[in-house]
Amino acid sequence: MSVIYLGVLAHLRADPFESSDALEIIPSGALRVDEEGRIVQIGEKWQILAQTPEARCVDYGDGWLIPGLIDGHIHFPQYYATAAEGGQLLDWLAKSIFPQEAAYADVELAEDTARRFVHHLLACGTTTAMVFGSQFFHANLALFDAAARHGLRLIAGTTLMDRASPLIPESLLQPSVAQARADAETLIARCRADSLLHYALTPRWALSCTAEMMEMCADLLRAHPETYLQTHINENRSEIEAVMRHFSQCRDYLEVYQRFGLIGERTMLAHNIHASDGELVRLAQAQCAVCHCPSSNLFLGSGLFPLARHVQHGIDVAVGTDIGAGTRFSLWENLSDAYKIQQLQGMSLDAAQLLYLGTLGGAKALQLEHETGNFAPGKSADFFVLDGAADGYLNERLRRCESLGESLFCLLHLATARQVSATYVRGRRVFSQNTV
Ligand code: GUN
Ligand code: ZN
Repeated sequence: MSVIYLGVLAHLRADPFESSDALEIIPSGALRVDEEGRIVQIGEKWQILAQTPEARCVDYGDGWLIPGLIDGHIHFPQYYATAAEGGQLLDWLAKSIFPQEAAYADVELAEDTARRFVHHLLACGTTTAMVFGSQFFHANLALFDAAARHGLRLIAGTTLMDRASPLIPESLLQPSVAQARADAETLIARCRADSLLHYALTPRWALSCTAEMMEMCADLLRAHPETYLQTHINENRSEIEAVMRHFSQCRDYLEVYQRFGLIGERTMLAHNIHASDGELVRLAQAQCAVCHCPSSNLFLGSGLFPLARHVQHGIDVAVGTDIGAGTRFSLWENLSDAYKIQQLQGMSLDAAQLLYLGTLGGAKALQLEHETGNFAPGKSADFFVLDGAADGYLNERLRRCESLGESLFCLLHLATARQVSATYVRGRRVFSQNTV
């Protein structure tokens, strides 16, 4: 039997950077979902209820039903490394991050954190996350198991480092490229057993990997076309200088990854703040996606992400929390930071564009547009419920809005994870504040 969810429905039918009527808001809306957790129908409540009187109803009243958020970049072993001192990127990594990541050699800590990490994301309305895993195999197994058990759509892989440097503790280096490859193959097989799980080859960044490790990643990417590749690029000026010193034969940062065969349509590059026009042209040609991490860029003082230039070049952009450089687990709250970062550069995003970046745009960037990102019939019922009335001030502010578009804009800036009352993945309720 199908289930009908009632509330205010808001989603993107298309790309609002290309089309002016991409945003659909249905005030008394209904979403009908079948037994398999697929969306069958979206429309007006009275119409869908009249057509299917036998269906079970879940009524969220004035709550907003929004497609599940897509976090395009987050670090699992940095779960407890938020708000850490250390200044900008390279010093921060050495001082605060690497010691934290080394702690995940402990199996108990890894298993406990995996469960909390997955639950925390679901409680924020995030239904899909692309994750930098631990350096330790057992920790990543725990992460995949937690995602499968609790219902998070997860793309993740072992964070690979094998280039000794004074920056990086030896305990975080892979024992060998052969071992890293064998572990990746085991985890790729684990992902095949569950359609919510995907493997991402994860060479941390150009400074952390040997040529042999990057070649191994390219080789596995070719051998397993369902896998992804994720890494960092053009985040911080000192980092870029160090990369260019080390790879002096390359004209820019992107060329390092291109030479190793790491750039393609299943590649996600985090940050790309200081990209040249030449790099943007080549990224677009390769159909490679970029993840913008607003609260991280602000916290580390990395720079202002040039969204307009990415859009002009036709590059798919997702948004990520980048925990622990990011200070907010809520992707929704990161969208408000994304707005402010563009304001500083003279680009004023509207509600449709912001919502797109966190939902359908993220799905497109992750090649998951066929499965999630909006309420198109046939897609997985991945959504969350945002209850503005749960907060006194927000409730009053919303009552003074003159249109639903204005209400959505207010919610995008004022609602927090505390107003997420339920989250669903594939029609299964995976988080609830028990308000219904
Ligand atoms: N570059 C390489 N590693 C990291 C990391 O853990 N966080 C961020 N923000 N940038 C990185
Ligand atoms: Zn990162």
